[in-house]
Amino acid sequence: MKLSDIEQSMLQGDQGAAIGRAMDLLVRYGEALGAECLVETRNVCGTVGATTPFMRDFAQARGGMDAVFSEFNLDSDQVVNIPPVRAFSSHLQLGFDPEQPVRMGVNEETIRFYKTGERFTAGLGVQLLNTCTPYQVGNVPTRGEHCAWMESSAVIYCNSVLGARTNTEGRESTGAAMLTERIPYWGYHLPANRLGTHLVELDIAIEGTSEWGLLGYFIGDQVKDQIPVLSPQQSLARVPGLTQLKHFGASASSSGGVEMYHIVGITPEAQSLEMAFGQRRPTEVIHYGARERRATYERLNANGNSRDVDYVMLGCPHYNIEQLWELARMIEGRKVHTNCELWVFTPRAIKTLADQNGYTRIIEAAGGIMMSDSCSAMSRAVPEGTQVVALDSAKQAHYLPAILGVQAWFGTTQDCVNAACTGRWEGGLA
Ligand code: F3S
Repeated sequence: MKLSDIEQSMLQGDQGAAIGRAMDLLVRYGEALGAECLVETRNVCGTVGATTPFMRDFAQARGGMDAVFSEFNLDSDQVVNIPPVRAFSSHLQLGFDPEQPVRMGVNEETIRFYKTGERFTAGLGVQLLNTCTPYQVGNVPTRGEHCAWMESSAVIYCNSVLGARTNTEGRESTGAAMLTERIPYWGYHLPANRLGTHLVELDIAIEGTSEWGLLGYFIGDQVKDQIPVLSPQQSLARVPGLTQLKHFGASASSSGGVEMYHIVGITPEAQSLEMAFGQRRPTEVIHYGARERRATYERLNANGNSRDVDYVMLGCPHYNIEQLWELARMIEGRKVHTNCELWVFTPRAIKTLADQNGYTRIIEAAGGIMMSDSCSAMSRAVPEGTQVVALDSAKQAHYLPAILGVQAWFGTTQDCVNAACTGRWEGGLA
């Protein structure tokens, strides 16, 4: 790989051992990918810190959080002192909400260790966003900006809606990027790799967040890791907002592995079909109509059997303030059924806003629990004895049955609120 003089000096360790280890990792990683060079990045989203007993033991045996960062963020056997980060860096989510240890089945010792990790992370200059949706709490890169982000639902939003450029990075590559402001120049950093591959014709109108989730789930399954181009023509009842595109991307990246899409006339690199495909012709034209919609809905609900719901989880990807406002209006004056629990996940910053606006009070008065930092799929935490879950997220409905062996129902947020308040699933396709 071709390195600039400054990158070469980083690699040689002239700027400290940690920078040397970071650059060594990026060179190994880039060469394995066939990247010809590195690209500068000033926006990195990864995970720093630790939650597991294994990491706690590792830290105690090897020399604290520097050892954790060396091993798990730099892939370095050698423990090096970690300096403050150079790139603007954000910490995403980890495995539990430290404010809810009992509900999440986490003991006090683990919480203490987690907080040590948080202090270390903040001390490096990493922003504690604690969410899978950094773009909802102020990290909004501009079009063309080179980023190094983890988390599939964030990556697809970054590439498609914002027009910034990132591959789906890992904990190690983002750790190295934080220290060096570099990431291998390959994949979605290259303009030619951002052109559409498949044309999707919408034969029915798409309106509402759950419909965007269904559509994303269908498309991801069809195109796998390629780049779909939606040609909506007259089929959009209204322009999708942040919430709809967040759910659309999260679904497409879970059923398929899509990291980028275009919607003609809406997303920034697709002002026209010609712009979305460049000189290419679509490899396939896919239609989405009433039949495909129903089949996707049935597939997502295939393992729902009992209609007695124990648990309703909202907030995958993490809810934004608009969704909490809507939820508060839906649930105000109602009560969560005694046989059911409602957990709502949102970023810490948005939880603060919800506290100020009174939404937390309304949701908690109804019997719901507001949580942050994680989710049930990530934490593997659900209320004790849960067998049947209701979800308004296709992504969570995709993962939770596989991770925890529970039955899952997928539907609208209103379906889920009704299930929480009655203990029964009555959702269905309109
Ligand atoms: Fe976020 Fe968990 Fe969903 S990390 S995208 S809420 S699976």
